[in-house]
Amino acid sequence: MPVAIITGASKGLGEALARGLAERGWDLVLDARDPVPLAEAAGLVSAHGTRVTVLPGDVTDAAHRAELVAAAWRLGGVDLVVHNASALGAEPLVPLEELPLDGLRRALEVNLVAALGLVQEALPLLRSAAAGAVLVVSSDAAAEAYPTWGGYGASKAALDQLAAVLAVEEPGLRVWSVDPGDMATDLYAAAVPDDDDPRPEPATVVPAFLRLLDERPASGRYGAPALLEERR
Ligand SMILES: NC(=O)c1ccc[n+]([C@@H]2O[C@H](COP(=O)([O-])OP(=O)(O)OC[C@H]3O[C@@H](n4cnc5c(N)ncnc54)[C@H](OP(=O)(O)O)[C@@H]3O)[C@@H](O)[C@H]2O)c1
Repeated sequence: MPVAIITGASKGLGEALARGLAERGWDLVLDARDPVPLAEAAGLVSAHGTRVTVLPGDVTDAAHRAELVAAAWRLGGVDLVVHNASALGAEPLVPLEELPLDGLRRALEVNLVAALGLVQEALPLLRSAAAGAVLVVSSDAAAEAYPTWGGYGASKAALDQLAAVLAVEEPGLRVWSVDPGDMATDLYAAAVPDDDDPRPEPATVVPAFLRLLDERPASGRYGAPALLEERR
């Protein structure tokens, strides 16, 4: 069975994607910092009969990233790395004038530096996989200038570029950066607590991610809404 590492898999998009992959028989290595919701999520995912290893930890911790890859190796290798865990930099979001620089550093560490650290750790196994892939979760804030989304958006823009260069350097892999679109999650609520407009549940965008894995289009940046629209 193919093996995926998914960061930030205790809730939201990460958990929904883990369930989507488990339904298709993927073995999984999942992380998040809080072990309680992570264990609950693992219970749901394991119901699909695949092997699931959960490792509570922070993606900014190099030893934890090494444990994630070692756990995947014990399951048979690394076919897919999904860097989904994310930090906003300020909760709620604030204009750049007020953005704490430590918050910006944290967003860069979680969203960008940890992504590269995990990929570096997993690269030997990804290269030896039959169809190795890296999937980083981006945002439209990486490409659009929304007030208050500057620090987070800058980290995601840098993540997009990192993925684009990795794709050129590693032509044997697929490297996709995916903007999932707005979703009703704790991250969105923390970013904009006063915005109570209805938003899609994360499970509704999972088919877009599965489509990438099914069709393996060229490395690049993709929007989940467009992937879903084209499939209808
Ligand atoms: N929601 C949206 O509207 C939206 C829009 C565009 C892009 N995105 C992107 O979609 C991805 C998923 O976000 P979401 O909305 O599903 O968020 P979410 O529901 O808040 O889930 C975030 C997950 O990441 C984990 N996490 C956070 N920091 C971590 C760290 N340092 N180390 C390990 N795990 C960590 C969280 O668990 P712990 O807190 O226990 O660690 C949780 O499992 C993110 O990359 C986000 O930027 C979201």
